[in-house]
Amino acid sequence: MMVGIAGTPGTGKTALGDELARRGERVVRVAETVGPFVVDEVDGVREVDEEAWSAAFEPVDGYVEGGLAHLLPCDRLVILRCRPDELERRLNARGYPPAKVRENVEAEALDVVLCEALERHPPDRVLEIETTDRPVGETADLVAAFVAGREPPSHGRIDFSGYLVVGP
Ligand SMILES: Nc1ncnc2c1ncn2[C@@H]1O[C@H](COP(=O)(O)OP(=O)(O)OP(=O)(O)O)[C@@H](O)[C@H]1O
Ligand SMILES: [Mg+2]
Repeated sequence: MMVGIAGTPGTGKTALGDELARRGERVVRVAETVGPFVVDEVDGVREVDEEAWSAAFEPVDGYVEGGLAHLLPCDRLVILRCRPDELERRLNARGYPPAKVRENVEAEALDVVLCEALERHPPDRVLEIETTDRPVGETADLVAAFVAGREPPSHGRIDFSGYLVVGP
């Protein structure tokens, strides 16, 4: 079974992948598979031919962690979420430029990854998990329970729209 771990940058995909790997799970990192499909690079950010990458992706029995994971034909999809004010803190701590922080925080507030995911995956295969105040070990426990069928699918209960910035 291929399990995708998706979410806006900074929501904790890599941290969760590290924890699952520590538990002995197979974890593939999207970032390590996109190389041949990079079509451009702007300010150090690689632009990927997502269609070509997704079509060429060899299915794995395990977890696939990264920002494009929701574009793959996963059997289960976990979408990590983070409250926008905390996400802003995490991305600022990385030294991202303000415009990049704002863009990602807005995407999180607008459910962009969830919407893209639901265009491709039946809702009963999707689990959203908020990582804002959740220790990564607890997130990993939830994911394991979801994959085992002990935790039901769930999405749409998170509403960050109150964090959208109004005005110019
Ligand atoms: N409860 C938490 N769960 C996950 N990460 C957390 C949590 N609290 C703080 N963090 C921190 O937030 C950051 C999350 O970054 P991480 O690299 O895992 O995100 P990502 O989703 O992989 O981002 P990217 O898409 O840019 O690779 C890390 O510095 C991590 O230590
Ligand atoms: Mg990451």
